[in-house]
Amino acid sequence: MLSKKMEEALNEQLNWEIYSAHIYLSMASHFTQVGLSGFANWMNVQYQEEMFHAMRFFNFINSAGGHAKLGQIDQPQHEWKTPLAAFEDALEHERGVTARINKIADLAVKERDHAIGIFLQWFITEQVEEEENVGDIVGKLKLVGDGGGLFMLDRDLATRVFTPPTIA
Ligand code: FEO
Repeated sequence: MLSKKMEEALNEQLNWEIYSAHIYLSMASHFTQVGLSGFANWMNVQYQEEMFHAMRFFNFINSAGGHAKLGQIDQPQHEWKTPLAAFEDALEHERGVTARINKIADLAVKERDHAIGIFLQWFITEQVEEEENVGDIVGKLKLVGDGGGLFMLDRDLATRVFTPPTIA
């Protein structure tokens, strides 16, 4: 059974994952508008990943005796000056997500709720990957600048596909 505090923390994260999904879908739309379809594809896949994260929280809350509740989602930004600006925002956002997950993990330790600790392990590992993936693209964007390399990177990002993660 979830404590009231834990139920609130998990619900907050559920809604934060949906907010993350909105940010990336908005970035996908922006990249479509500026003619970078590979970047748009990458963001679209990221949107699907975030919805997968959200549904993991949604299902966990309900199956652990809580009530998954959908809240109001803030409007995301619609435009970015450069691809680098968008990915720098994405990296900052992911660092924020990591901090939030760690905070819930700290609460699980405090409440000695080991089931939640195990559930959160997947997200802790996932966040390392999320930050690494976005950070890698930030690094490449810094290298290529606005030149032809940007179009090569666009072709590269067009190959990303969403594969629902297998959960151990
Ligand atoms: Fe669901 Fe990108 O963290």
